[in-house]
Amino acid sequence: MCSALLGAALLLALYTLLYHALRRPAPPRARPSLRGRTAIVTGGSGGIGAATARELARRGARVVLAARSAARGEAAASRIRTETGNAEVRFMHLDLASLRSVRAFASAFLREEPHLHLLINNAGVSAGGQTEDGYGLTFQVNHLGHFLLTQLLLERLQRSAPSRVVIVASSAHCSGRLDPAALGRPVRGALQTFQAYCDSKLANVLHARELATRLQGTEVTCYAVHPGFVNTEIFRHAPLWLKPLLVPLAWLFFRDAAEGAETPLYCATQEGLERFSGRYFADCRPQEPWPRGRDDGLARALWEGSERLVGLGPRRPPAPAARGQ
Ligand SMILES: NC(=O)c1ccc[n+]([C@@H]2O[C@H](COP(=O)([O-])OP(=O)(O)OC[C@H]3O[C@@H](n4cnc5c(N)ncnc54)[C@H](OP(=O)(O)O)[C@@H]3O)[C@@H](O)[C@H]2O)c1
Repeated sequence: MCSALLGAALLLALYTLLYHALRRPAPPRARPSLRGRTAIVTGGSGGIGAATARELARRGARVVLAARSAARGEAAASRIRTETGNAEVRFMHLDLASLRSVRAFASAFLREEPHLHLLINNAGVSAGGQTEDGYGLTFQVNHLGHFLLTQLLLERLQRSAPSRVVIVASSAHCSGRLDPAALGRPVRGALQTFQAYCDSKLANVLHARELATRLQGTEVTCYAVHPGFVNTEIFRHAPLWLKPLLVPLAWLFFRDAAEGAETPLYCATQEGLERFSGRYFADCRPQEPWPRGRDDGLARALWEGSERLVGLGPRRPPAPAARGQ
């Protein structure tokens, strides 16, 4: 009897410890109006992206949900319009696994939308396979597609400045390894899906770092974000044997999508963050990334390799232009 009680108490203590470690609530703060601001949220059809889009819309922003499934994208846009009363929420098709689709999205956006103040590079997968462009699926969706998208929209961000790019990375960058000579090649090995995910998240952290360096002197700033451990569909491609462990863990301890959206929203909207451009944030605070995430040589090599893989020549950030609103 005594040992059963002791066991139960220990379990409760462990649960409380883990719960608070993984679900640290965001500090309370002001939520300024975003009326007159335009935002793109990639992967805005579900998970953290939909929660981010909902809050941006609630604060009055014009929001473009950039997603690959028209059915899920239109449904999410309609839900957000109803829930927030903001009619300026629209779906536009974007499949980050196709560089052609990224270019088509960017052309349509530039044609149809005069402003861009917030680009939230949120969409992500953790899956095996290769894209039509011949690159690892996870690397292309999580990094390369977003890299091209950001480059194609940079001038519009610059014209709409002050503006921000938020790149949803992950603490999983700690296990990332990037070989500049083998960029984009599908990862091989026993834990290839996990490794490819970690590599892509390291690329996210380094992308923000190098982008900030290249944008110095402009009014466009950028941030990499770890949203916390969040109960979404990100693990839908996890191996079957892992799911019985992941599902209860996620249900008991992980944040919900709205909580997961807190740090991306903080980096997108909090005033006075400009001096932190290029930094990595978690729990609404700047944090030091793991050593590879601070490697400026690797960040430069990733940038140059990414330019080559998406077919862009070296380019300088656009010259400061007349400011939009
Ligand atoms: N959940 C976590 O614990 C966690 C932790 C750290 C970082 N993150 C990061 O947070 C971000 C959001 O993930 P989540 O947890 O919200 O996962 P999620 O629920 O699976 O949502 C991912 C979103 O990305 C979209 N997407 C997937 N492939 C795409 C493609 N080829 N083109 C365009 N959109 C695509 C999905 O669209 P469909 O609906 O069409 O599939 C979905 O809207 C990811 O970058 C992830 O790495 C998550």
